[in-house]
Amino acid sequence: MRFAIVGAGRMSREIEAVATSQGHPVVWRLGSAENPHGQGLTAERLAAADVVFEFTTPGAAVENLLRLAAAGARTVCGTTGWARDLPAVTEAFAAGPGALVHAANFSVGVRHFFDLATRAARLYSRAGYASYLVEEHHAEKRDAPSGTARTIASLVEMTSGRPLPITSVRAGTIPGTHRLVFESPEDEIEIIHRARSRAGFARGAVWAAERIAGRSGEVFEFGELLSELEKEGP
Ligand SMILES: NC(=O)c1ccc[n+]([C@@H]2O[C@H](COP(=O)([O-])OP(=O)(O)OC[C@H]3O[C@@H](n4cnc5c(N)ncnc54)[C@H](OP(=O)(O)O)[C@@H]3O)[C@@H](O)[C@H]2O)c1
Repeated sequence: MRFAIVGAGRMSREIEAVATSQGHPVVWRLGSAENPHGQGLTAERLAAADVVFEFTTPGAAVENLLRLAAAGARTVCGTTGWARDLPAVTEAFAAGPGALVHAANFSVGVRHFFDLATRAARLYSRAGYASYLVEEHHAEKRDAPSGTARTIASLVEMTSGRPLPITSVRAGTIPGTHRLVFESPEDEIEIIHRARSRAGFARGAVWAAERIAGRSGEVFEFGELLSELEKEGP
């Protein structure tokens, strides 16, 4: 499968390494200078790739995604911080021959964390525990709280009926840590997901690309694509 990457940062490099190690050539990669306002996404470039990865910045993602949708590209987007534009982007992909998988977090381990968080919120909120979330990322991460923290908060809040306080730490080179704490006068329970590197995110994104190639008019959040696989059985 031929891949292309919009973005030239840490995640883009990690995706290229994982993709090529799995036998998928990366036919082009665009940084910000080659792609002002999505203008580098030419018909010629897009015709050369089966799937395009979009891992840029919150300010650039929506323009890129609307251009990719208009061109009918199969797209995997991991950029965070553009959720309020999701309805417009979904509509654009659903109307054309392209397809989109998006996620604030492509780690399969984090998907399990979401399940644990929901179950723990049900148990501990009934027992009267208070809860909070601490998320830690490298100093250059632009959005805070992280997209993953927002997802965890919405799951816990839906289950417990109470707001979940979030603290964001931006320091050094931390790939991403999320710590959900349930707190009572007697004890404290913590559920922690600590990414050791970006490889887990890249592997999930490459798997999503393999899954979405050749599909049309569909939009998935990564978890929906994983559920589709579970329904197919062993
Ligand atoms: N979903 C996940 O699993 C996951 C995991 C980790 C990170 N993320 C998210 O993915 C995004 C990228 O992360 P990162 O660590 O790779 O960030 P990064 O190292 O800061 O890289 C961002 C890149 O975006 C490029 N860029 C900005 N505008 C562009 C445009 N119009 N066209 C093409 N490229 C453009 C920049 O290119 P130049 O260098 O040329 O300026 C830069 O290389 C962030 O939103 C981050 O939160 C998601």
